[in-house]
Amino acid sequence: MKRIVSPSILAADFGQLAADIAMLDASAAQWIHIDVMDGVFVPNISFGFPVMEAVRPLTAKPLDVHLMIVDPDRYIARFAAAGANVLTVQAEACTHLHRTLQSIHEHGMQSDVALNPATPLSVVEEVLDDIDMVLLMTVNPGFGAQTFIPNSFSKIERLRRMIENRGLDTLIQVDGGVTLDNAAELYAAGVNVLVAGNTVFSSENPAGTIHKLLTA
Ligand code: DX5
Ligand code: ZN
Repeated sequence: MKRIVSPSILAADFGQLAADIAMLDASAAQWIHIDVMDGVFVPNISFGFPVMEAVRPLTAKPLDVHLMIVDPDRYIARFAAAGANVLTVQAEACTHLHRTLQSIHEHGMQSDVALNPATPLSVVEEVLDDIDMVLLMTVNPGFGAQTFIPNSFSKIERLRRMIENRGLDTLIQVDGGVTLDNAAELYAAGVNVLVAGNTVFSSENPAGTIHKLLTA
């Protein structure tokens, strides 16, 4: 099964962001995860367009942009213009999810729907044919370096079965509390894309850790 590691720059050193992006660019990471938080959908504010615009010219790798913002429809065109390749919206933040996903595709990006830990899989059932990926949040969104919620394993396995039963090739991404200790088990449960912030950036050798996450 396809494997992708998408390190989250939420845990990077913003005082030397260009150096951290250069490290990711030279590493085995296929994508770069960008966490945008608005202080309304989640109890934290991270960063937005100026940071994305600084990152975009530094790497050709796809930018995997995770919007933790209310009413994301308002900004789809701007994220496309800022160079997002994969655009993730939280299902809980979308009143007309199908319309939002259509708009993401119309703007030339891959579409991804994120579900909070308490949001059931049935929320994506009716749009599964129309999306490229489902992101299962394995912590409550808003902060890095939180502890993985163990119940997530059953949800991953059920989503994998749903995708297989329908003959789709939708990717499964997980985000939050991913470590070298749970990566292999996550792949075994059916995950394709691992997001990792703290595990990568707090390690002595971030590029080596990315390689270990990919080959766990
Ligand atoms: C959490 C963010 C995550 C975060 C993951 O709300 O969506 O992408 O950066 O951080 P770690 O890997 O440190 O749990
Ligand atoms: Zn994220």
